[in-house]
Amino acid sequence: MAEVAKLELDGKVYEFPVVEGSENEKAIDISKLRGTTGYITIDPGFKNTGSTTSGITFLNGEEGILRYRGYPIEQLAEKAEFLEVAYLLIYGDLPTAAQYEAFKDNITKHTLIHEDMRLFFEAYPAKAHPMGILAASLSTLSTFYPESQDPNRAQEAVDLTIQRLIAKVPTLAAWAYKNAMRHPVVYPNNQLDYCENFLNMMFSMPTDEYKVDPVVSKALNKLLILHADHEQNCSTATVRVVGSSQVNLYTSIAAGVSALWGPLHGGANQAVIEMLEAIKADGGDHDKWIAKAKDKEDPFRLMGFGHRVYKNFDPRATIIKKAADEVLDALGVNDPVLDIAKKLEKVALEDEYFVARGLYPNVDFYSGIIYRALGIPTEMFTVMFALGRLPGWISQWKEMIEDGAPIGRPRQVYTGATKRDFVDISNR
Ligand code: ACO
Repeated sequence: MAEVAKLELDGKVYEFPVVEGSENEKAIDISKLRGTTGYITIDPGFKNTGSTTSGITFLNGEEGILRYRGYPIEQLAEKAEFLEVAYLLIYGDLPTAAQYEAFKDNITKHTLIHEDMRLFFEAYPAKAHPMGILAASLSTLSTFYPESQDPNRAQEAVDLTIQRLIAKVPTLAAWAYKNAMRHPVVYPNNQLDYCENFLNMMFSMPTDEYKVDPVVSKALNKLLILHADHEQNCSTATVRVVGSSQVNLYTSIAAGVSALWGPLHGGANQAVIEMLEAIKADGGDHDKWIAKAKDKEDPFRLMGFGHRVYKNFDPRATIIKKAADEVLDALGVNDPVLDIAKKLEKVALEDEYFVARGLYPNVDFYSGIIYRALGIPTEMFTVMFALGRLPGWISQWKEMIEDGAPIGRPRQVYTGATKRDFVDISNR
């Protein structure tokens, strides 16, 4: 007999079906709750709410498991190329050699940005945060492709929008950086692979030939794969909710970029480095900063620590920590901030406050250190995260559209004033 959950309200018992996932995760389906009982649920931050079923990413926070379409993150980070992972996430299976060649070819064709759009970059102030530029320019892209307005077009037309997005985001990202430097933009070079082309657009100068270091492009490939999807996190949930209004894909992704920007989400990688720099400048006293993080009167949190889902360890952090050592070693970089990070991690992992709350280093604790070693400026760290997360956002949006998801529209329990009559301004 199918499992049901029973709920007793006002002396009446209601039954709700239990839904079971392919990895035996269980949920109570309350989609008919309001209709049958008149009640709604309250769950701030959606800590217990599954907003969808999904066949894309499996995550078990207790055991530190992360798999894309069934493939363990450890194997993908070790063996795959980022675009291969993008294909896997978006289309459900690893591509054959022929499918992969065609996919890469289609993406390579679309790396250029419309020349009129370059003019927008000239108008941003030099101090503009590149995440602001990226979000704005993604929305702007939709104005250049008005035919993309309907998300329910034929598969071929949707695929073209997907290819344009994956191809153009590296160009937009690198140009956002060039804007901050007030340097001329570098156009895409379609002879280079995805990571090499991005690095070339970032670091090539009219005055100097830039040769991509394979250590750097390999590390970038790994970081992008580690960030490629993470089921229903803040930015992905945002992409799904915004997309559920049937707005175009460019604009849905722009909303995801905005959600990612915040320091409690993707912005944490920038915040981690700023925190480590502040600790260094303050004399490197870890205990003082650990005490600040534990003090409930102090808003300071140990950035890069804690996760809504992982309560034992973040498997991505384990891979990144090892990669950070390898990359710094291969590039001959000696970063004192890495030493501070390691000491801070050791102290926190043994501290009762952090242990009791299941607070462990997350993916962002070490990613900023690698990005720094690769020469990426701090303000660009979250943009790098967005570059990696793009295929995840696209695949989650595609699944939501194909599932015919209803518009995302939560309810509330109203706690404001009850009905009162308008008082004329002269009598207030
Ligand atoms: N430093 C100090 N205390 C912390 C931290 C931290 N980094 N994170 C959580 N806590 C404490 C909270 O104060 C709370 O303590 P309490 O139970 O005594 O009140 C407890 O741990 C639980 O924390 P919540 O905020 O309720 O957990 P939630 O799941 O809502 O938040 C989050 C998760 C936002 C990631 C949080 O741990 C945090 O702010 N971390 C720092 C920012 C960060 O690194 N974000 C990146 C996340 S990974 C990503 O998005 C890619």
